[in-house]
This record gives sequence, structure tokens and C-alpha cells, in this order.
Amino acid sequence: MKVLVVGSGGREHAICWKLRQSPLIKELYCAPGNPGIAEVADRVPIAADEIHKLADFASELGIDLTVVGPELPLVLGIADEFTSRGLAVFGPNKQAAELEGSKVFAKEFMRRHSIPTADFEVAHDASEARRLAKRFGFPVVLKADGLAAGKGVRVVHDEQAFEDALQAFFDERRFGAAADRLVIEACLVGEEISLMALCDGTRLLPLAAAKDYKRLLDQDDGPNTGGMGAHSPAGVLPTGVGLEIIEQVLTPTVRGLAAENRNFIGVLYAGLMLTEDGPRVLEFNVRLGDPEAQPLLMRLSDDLLPVLAQGAAGRFEVQRLNFAKNAAACVVLASRGYPEKPAKGEAITGIESAAANEDVAVFHAGTGMADDNVVATGGRVLDVCATGPNLREALRRAYSAAAEISWPSKILRRDIGRRVLNRGESGSSS
Ligand code: AMP
Ligand code: GLY
Repeated sequence: MKVLVVGSGGREHAICWKLRQSPLIKELYCAPGNPGIAEVADRVPIAADEIHKLADFASELGIDLTVVGPELPLVLGIADEFTSRGLAVFGPNKQAAELEGSKVFAKEFMRRHSIPTADFEVAHDASEARRLAKRFGFPVVLKADGLAAGKGVRVVHDEQAFEDALQAFFDERRFGAAADRLVIEACLVGEEISLMALCDGTRLLPLAAAKDYKRLLDQDDGPNTGGMGAHSPAGVLPTGVGLEIIEQVLTPTVRGLAAENRNFIGVLYAGLMLTEDGPRVLEFNVRLGDPEAQPLLMRLSDDLLPVLAQGAAGRFEVQRLNFAKNAAACVVLASRGYPEKPAKGEAITGIESAAANEDVAVFHAGTGMADDNVVATGGRVLDVCATGPNLREALRRAYSAAAEISWPSKILRRDIGRRVLNRGESGSSS
């Protein structure tokens, strides 16, 4: 098969890396890709949001399947464009992608379908936000309605932080039209996990659970980011709760979307808080999590390609996905200044030797080439991943490989997985 992957981050590198292993792959392209992806796929110089150009490319080359990594092209309607031209695509259409594109839509959808989530209100300006927030007290959570690359959420603990957030959202317009509306919601307490499933419109193939570390700094301090590390298994999911989430969240979501004429083909991602009262949805995404995809794809023992092709055609032919009984971990190397203003352009050393370690893969996220050197071009730069017989060993290997890579502004969290290990790796192995 000829396959096109859309995107340029660590998630897309991992998708290409996995697809390259398929005996069915004949040609693999990635638009626009990055220098790491170039080792496993042919790069195509078209940006991920240039939907028409991507469709032209897929038509011209006779691409059999397009796999969309990031949310932006999905929310812009890439799947609709491809489908209208008779091109197979694994990713939801614009209507279904609203589940991620609008938090107001997602919250109201959950309310309509009795999907467990935090209590909430919707505000259109600062004074309405002040009035509506009163009934929640502090801490309270404020979320920009639209896409904000994982950075549009503030958990505020006092009046001052609340006012600062309102200023950023409404006065400074830091998120533009994405913050025309705000979701104000009750703050939930518990462990966070990510549970995803591949969907073909009606059926679900759940992935193993993963844990993502969204805060910039150790001990879950500092601002929210796209994710600073991840591992699978999550290590914090009590036996049976995964099934509960599939039954109470993922299945009713796909059914509810279908009932509202928003047939969902693609990856449905639920970010959840495991509270004392049960799992609650924090957010939905309509694509693989980044960096969760990296460890998950390292553990997936099935060939990904036929499953995605079947999903795009609206009919899975397998009943379940199989994951190795091992563990995988990912440590994100970012550049100082991330998420606000990361340093850019510095040359990176040590990638090859780090990647040469057994059971280690180094996925590129924000890298470029300058004078034959790999340089840091993004906030999140490299994802150092490793598998191991258990989480402790996977994390040890990932950290040990991460130490071999350097550039002046390199930063990383030192505590990915630590709290889970200290709990004794309880929870199910999936
Ligand atoms: P979201 O993009 O909605 O997943 O939010 C980003 C992060 O903010 C989540 O991963 C949580 O760490 C935190 N968060 C979001 N909503 C809540 C909530 N209702 N209670 C506590 N923390 C939250
Ligand atoms: N790591 C969280 C996300 O992909 O949204």
C-alpha cells in the first residue's frame, strides 16, 4: 500500500516508524515530516493544514490510505475533503472533530449523553465568568473553547490567578477566537490517565491505557504543556476501571456522535481523572495523544496498517488490538522557554548514540537541519522512548538514553513515572 501520514511531530514519527514495519507497506510519505521521520518515510513539503494541496498530492500519487496525526487539519475538515474525492482517510470528519475543536460542544455533548464529566458553565465575557464562577469556589478550572495546543487550560487557586486568566483570555486575546467562550468547570482531584480507541464509525478497538505528564515541571508544577512524558501501562488504573471507561465513556460517545450524524472514524481519546466517585472525562481529543502514542505504538504487537485501512473503510475485521506484556516510557526533551517562547536553532548532539541503545527509540518532534546538523526548532524537540519488562526498567532505559543527548537549552522532567513507581506499580498491566 501507498500511505501518507500528515503531521510533523513525535507522534507522527512514531506512526511512520510503526507503519514502516508493516509487510504491506510499499511507499510511505509524510507531510511535512521532520528530519527523524525522513529516515523512515519520504518527506513531502506540504504543511499539515494545507488540506487541498494534500488531497491533490494523494490523488496524483494514488495514495491508498492517509493517516492524520494532529487535530488542526481534522478540525479544518481534511477528512471531508479526502472523502469527497474518494480518498481513504483515517481520521474523523469536521463534524465529529468538533469534539476536540470546541470544549463547549464537548461538554454539552457529554451532558446530553450522560457521560461522566465535571460540572460546568459557559461564559462569553469576563463579567459573566466572574458571576458564574462563584458557585464553584476555588480551585476552579478555566478552559478556552477552541484549539490551544494543550495550553488553553488554567487551574486557578485564588482571585488573583482567576483575574490573570481572564485577562489573558479576554483582554490580551492570547488564544484569539479560541477564547471567545470559556468553559468554567469544577476542579477534580485524582490520578489522570489517557484511554484511546480506534473507531470505524460504530466499533471500538481500545488501546492500552497510558499516563501523560502535562505540567512543565517536576511534581506536576508549572504551566500545562502538550505533554512532557508518558508511559504505558498507566500503572494507576485499578482492575476493571478500564472496562468501566469503555462502557461509560468511549462507547456512549461513539454511539452519541453517530446518533447526532457525526460518524466517528479515527482515534477517540479520552483524558480522564480517576476521582473517588469514579472516572470523569477531562477532555476529548480526536487523534492519538502526543506523547502517549509513542510508548503505545512501541507496545502494539499487531500490524497497524491493515487496522487503520479497515477503519477508514468503516469496518474493522479484528475484534481487539494486542499489546505486548511489557512497558514503554517516553521522556520529552524540550527547549528552555517552552511552552511560551522556546529557544530555537541550537545544534543537538548524541541522538544516534542514544538511539543505538537496546530497546530505545528517539522520535523527533521539533527538529530541523542546519549545516548538516540536527537543530532544535520547536518547544518539544525529541521524545526519548524505551521498552522494558516493566515500567521501572523502561523508564531507566529512557532516562539513560536521554542523558546522552545534549544542546544548550535542553530541559526535561526528571520525575516521569516516579510517583507511579513509588506506589508499587499497582493497577492492571494493560
Ligand atoms: P484538558 O486540555 O481539558 O485536558 O486540560 C489540561 C489539563 O488541565 C488536564 O490534563 C488536567 O491536568 C487539568 N484539568 C483540566 N480539567 C480539569 C478539572 N476539571 N479538574 C482538575 N484538573 C483539570
Ligand atoms: N498529550 C496530550 C495530548 O495529546 O493532547
